[in-house]
Amino acid sequence: MCGIIGYTGSETAQEVITDALTTLEYRGYDSAGLALSGSKSRSIDIYKCAGRVSDLKSMLEKKMKPADREATCGVGHTRWATHGGVTDTNAHPHRVGTVTLVHNGIIENYRELTDEFRLKGKLKSETDTEVVAGVLDSFYAESEDPKKAIAETVKELKGTFALVVMFANYPDVVFAVRNVSPIVATQSPQGSMLASDLTALTRFTDRYFVLPEYTIAELHRSALYLWTLNGKPVEPEWLTMDWEKNSADKGGYPFYMEKEIDEQPEGIRKTVEPRLKDGIPDFSCDELDESILTDTEEITVAACGTAMHTGLVFQNLARKILHTEVNVCLASEYMYGEPVVGEKTLLIAVSQSGETIDTLEAVKYAKKRGARTLGIINVRGSSIARECESVLFTNAGPEIAVASTKAYTTQLSLFYLLIARIAYLKGIWDEDKVRDFTAHLCRTPDAVDEVLNIRKDIHIIARNILEASDLFMIGRGLDYAALQEGSLKLKEVSYIHSEAYASGELKHGPIALITEETPVVALATQESLLKKGLSNVREVRSRGASVVLFVKNAMSEGLEQEFNIVRLPDLPDEFMVFPAACALQLLAYYVSSDKGFDVDKPRNLAKVVTVE
Ligand code: AGP
Repeated sequence: MCGIIGYTGSETAQEVITDALTTLEYRGYDSAGLALSGSKSRSIDIYKCAGRVSDLKSMLEKKMKPADREATCGVGHTRWATHGGVTDTNAHPHRVGTVTLVHNGIIENYRELTDEFRLKGKLKSETDTEVVAGVLDSFYAESEDPKKAIAETVKELKGTFALVVMFANYPDVVFAVRNVSPIVATQSPQGSMLASDLTALTRFTDRYFVLPEYTIAELHRSALYLWTLNGKPVEPEWLTMDWEKNSADKGGYPFYMEKEIDEQPEGIRKTVEPRLKDGIPDFSCDELDESILTDTEEITVAACGTAMHTGLVFQNLARKILHTEVNVCLASEYMYGEPVVGEKTLLIAVSQSGETIDTLEAVKYAKKRGARTLGIINVRGSSIARECESVLFTNAGPEIAVASTKAYTTQLSLFYLLIARIAYLKGIWDEDKVRDFTAHLCRTPDAVDEVLNIRKDIHIIARNILEASDLFMIGRGLDYAALQEGSLKLKEVSYIHSEAYASGELKHGPIALITEETPVVALATQESLLKKGLSNVREVRSRGASVVLFVKNAMSEGLEQEFNIVRLPDLPDEFMVFPAACALQLLAYYVSSDKGFDVDKPRNLAKVVTVE
């Protein structure tokens, strides 16, 4: 929910930190701040404000002390407010006594700690973070040992935290510790650096490690050390980024969202091709123990938002092809519904970031009850990836825009491979049938490309709905599943209240909301459902709705006389989700950009939701 940075090295800290905060701003952008030290002044100076990183940069230009311009050590933060309003005072970093820190997470017992450590008079903000600084300062006053103070403090904390800390008497050193909230770190000739995620580290190196939970990191200019809470040294487990360098840049696009929509054909190819051997899905590159697929009897998908929507498509295909029911659960609801979980349960956790705490908790809940767990994740080394028994990584590359696009289609492509593999392993399909299916899967990138080539037509459609406040998206079967994702895209980047509805259900109440000019986006790609689908579209149109119909080309003959249509490239019905998703992503993108919104950073949102 927030972006955190720590740096100490040979470079100018305020440049390194503000650059990194700009990269991390997608994680939260209510306010921004940094603390600098290691300069001649030897003091730790804080600069922070409500607003974006650009506002912080303007503040630095005007107010930064000359000595801080050469500062080579510091911490930084971009905030998504959880405790306390969006104000300069509540922005991070926070300082109490000798301790200055930034934090990502939620401290559940901060009120009790305020009383227990008699902090009331010392606090200026409404945040839980400042309380942690106060507790740390209290313990530091006793031991004057940063690592001991951190070790004692984390034992008092309940909740999730990634803390990056500076102590007044150690102006060139940055300390860190975490529980659930992510921290990755690296060491290079430019210095030692840690951040909430990899996108901020690519500037320096492709080597990194994930800070283990309840392990203290001590970063110096040319070395870094890890310690257990009782002071024993720990070796980092070094990993190598599988992203091309600066693939997290915007690459000349106005917004990351458009870039990432365009990257989908490549992302699908990079995800599928390494997992096909002579047309048969093969997960040996993932070192997948396939008993997870054959020895389980009940499959549950637990995920949030876009990731959950891929589960709806998988559920649809599993019924048709595997004759198996799949439960699809909102991860935030999963454990509270007391699901029936056992050793024959396969829990599939889908997550782009691999850090969504609701999904992480669902995995832990299922594991504790004996379930097998399989992750479909985009970020290596992420918390959910580390928690799952097995992981299939999408190869979408870094996804920066808050609105998830290429993660969706690459997650889908893995589900399609799983369907074909399970059908093969269970003898439901022979090799020819499997190869036929995967051949169509390999055509989905081209179909997405064809949609990208008609973006101008979709942009024109977008202009027709700019002023809408409410909108329906209607379809049946797989189209209804695809529209739930399309509707979320439009909602989150354009703020239009879009609702995806099974078109056959409208007449059971919601059609009462259709008035003159209510925009309706209809999707028709399932040949067996076309007739019924069109009659539902005619029902809303006869009540005044202004309809645009996204329809598979092969099914569109004559419809252009009757409707405003957008033709989608032809694939077999069960693959039409791919071109349909891309068309609906472009629709949402153009509405948002034509409304002049910051498409990549929609209001109230953050890219990674690490609070429950
Ligand atoms: C999707 O556009 C949203 N940003 C959001 O619903 C997202 O899909 C959800 O928070 C899950 O994130 P994850 O895939 O990183 O777990």
